[in-house]
Amino acid sequence: MISTPDGVIDVDGRSRPLGGPADQARLVELRAAADVVLVGAGTVRAENYGTPSRSDLRIAVVTRSCALDFSTPLFTSGSGLVVTTVDAPDVPVESVREGTGQVDLEAAIARLDAGLVHVEGGPQLNATLLDADLVDAINLTISPMLFGVNGPSWATAPHAAREFALAWTEGRDGFLFARWERVRTA
Ligand SMILES: NC(=O)c1ccc[n+]([C@@H]2O[C@H](COP(=O)([O-])OP(=O)(O)OC[C@H]3O[C@@H](n4cnc5c(N)ncnc54)[C@H](OP(=O)(O)O)[C@@H]3O)[C@@H](O)[C@H]2O)c1
Repeated sequence: MISTPDGVIDVDGRSRPLGGPADQARLVELRAAADVVLVGAGTVRAENYGTPSRSDLRIAVVTRSCALDFSTPLFTSGSGLVVTTVDAPDVPVESVREGTGQVDLEAAIARLDAGLVHVEGGPQLNATLLDADLVDAINLTISPMLFGVNGPSWATAPHAAREFALAWTEGRDGFLFARWERVRTA
């Protein structure tokens, strides 16, 4: 996720104004390590998700409604799949279905058979994952821009309190890149 120093994560519904080449390069680094990208349907709709540059990278879109545009390259390329509930509508692409009424994300992620699942938000998906304690690390970019607008935080409250330890920081072209790793006590 990318955020402004005052906690804004999108401007007029898009995160692109917050970013720049250094932030795009960081996203490429993060995707390079990933086996699957997990992303909420709201983010796919708002950000017009396209085909990933890595042809072997799968984009798993979490949705209850399954109201997605399956004619877009994300899906026609075969990169996109749907993560939803057992009782959700049929979709014309591969789907992983776990849970009734609510997606059972732990079971669904296990079925993705991926070593590293890279989550790209948005705030509703992040909050659900945090609440279920499924987040092992947070990679957050702080943008050098302030926009003077109100907006959502990168995780929609409420969710359970979770503690993370700072593992890495780097500054590049005005952006601050940080990684926190989950502190799990027995
Ligand atoms: N700054 C950043 O790095 C960044 C990153 C990502 C997104 N964003 C911004 O965030 C905004 C989108 O926010 P959002 O809250 O709509 O994001 P979201 O979490 O991507 O989307 C919410 C939608 O995703 C599906 N969803 C999420 N969690 C789910 C769950 N646990 N189970 C089932 N379905 C789930 C539902 O889709 P259905 O409605 O289809 O059921 C839900 O309505 C956009 O403006 C985008 O620009 C910013």
